[in-house]
Amino acid sequence: MSQRPLNVGLVGGGGGAFIALPHQRAIFFDGTRRVVAAALHPDPVVAMEEAENWPYPLRGYRSYDEMIADQKGKPVGERLDYAVIVTPNNVHFDPAMKCLEAGIPVFCEKPMTLTLDESDRLVEKVKETGIPFGVAHTYLGHWTTRLSRHIVRSGLLGEVRWVDSYYIQGWLSERTEDMGVMQAEWRVDPAQAGLSGCGGDIGTHALMQLRYVTGLEVKELQASLTTFVEKRQLDDHFVASCTLSNGGKALVRASQIAIGHKNDLGIEVNGTKGTLIWRQEESEQLTILLPDQPDRVYWRGAVAANDGFLQDLPDDLMAEPTIPSGHPEAFHDAYARLHRCFEDDVRTYLDGKPVVCDGSKYANVEDGRAGIYFITKAVESSNDKGAWVTL
Ligand SMILES: NC(=O)c1ccc[n+]([C@@H]2O[C@H](COP(=O)([O-])OP(=O)(O)OC[C@H]3O[C@@H](n4cnc5c(N)ncnc54)[C@H](O)[C@@H]3O)[C@@H](O)[C@H]2O)c1
Repeated sequence: MSQRPLNVGLVGGGGGAFIALPHQRAIFFDGTRRVVAAALHPDPVVAMEEAENWPYPLRGYRSYDEMIADQKGKPVGERLDYAVIVTPNNVHFDPAMKCLEAGIPVFCEKPMTLTLDESDRLVEKVKETGIPFGVAHTYLGHWTTRLSRHIVRSGLLGEVRWVDSYYIQGWLSERTEDMGVMQAEWRVDPAQAGLSGCGGDIGTHALMQLRYVTGLEVKELQASLTTFVEKRQLDDHFVASCTLSNGGKALVRASQIAIGHKNDLGIEVNGTKGTLIWRQEESEQLTILLPDQPDRVYWRGAVAANDGFLQDLPDDLMAEPTIPSGHPEAFHDAYARLHRCFEDDVRTYLDGKPVVCDGSKYANVEDGRAGIYFITKAVESSNDKGAWVTL
């Protein structure tokens, strides 16, 4: 018999929100998860109005406090199986902690918290309770990111020497925050966005891509955070030179003032035997450069095991693609893959079994903390005229 779909609750999503929509699509993607409840807005009246007018049936709540409290005592099947937090950064920690206290698994947007102390407390709570916790680093969900991880971590490119991991946008190249764009308004406000604007918003994605693909950690960094647009309080341009845990070097860079760039996230890994190049705007493919050979372009859905370069492709990776190559997968598929993997862990948890939430399928609470730690150290370095700091 088919299994019952998991019940998901949203924290945030009303009033013309952005990222709640891709999450919703990803939740419904497989038919095994559905959104059933939401606290859509900070204003309780608006939250209820939005829920009543939602395009599909949804139990609306006046606040996330009310939604979480209402789960108490309900049997599995009638309560929320997990919550998705899609609010501005300053409204991540409180609902996340309250969900964990109520025994509800959490899939939280990035950056995970405003402060390192909040991140530490979430890490502790997850350790203590064993409740699944995911952080929505979207680009880890691309099949080609998973293939990149296999290629680099299995040593096919040799030892990693140099990594360029970047996320370049242009939408904040002028005072977008004065143009009625709510996504810009809170992103430039330290009270809602955190210590770093551009670094926290998209530099954390570049860092996570580096850590996920290479398995290496940043051990030292020297950062420069710049605010190009007048009267803005937070950085809109972020560059960190890093020393990695294997002694290699990396650049983690992000910008929101690079006119014409959209969501130009990518990674280049140079190893002692070859180079890997991947860009999310062309995420159906990755390129491998080897000495004295033609460039190899691998397409999702058209990768064969043991082709003279690729070796020992993991079975679960090969079982993953669902449509043939040339029918493009993209952003929503990546989100869906993350939700699908999170669902597996939630079902394990609901069965009363221990969950191995090791970050191999989606970013976990420690990864979320690593992002906040990195940003905290980058701000420290930048404030100290770009001094090297140890992590
Ligand atoms: N993973 C990604 O690729 C990605 C992309 C974009 C945004 N994000 C992250 O997602 C989060 C949301 O970003 P966005 O661009 O969608 O913002 P947004 O401004 O479009 O939406 C924020 C939503 O939160 C709601 N909200 C605010 N306070 C609330 C409260 N107290 N209770 C209930 N709802 C509340 C708002 O009403 C709105 O629906 C941010 O943390 C951002 O960094 C991640």
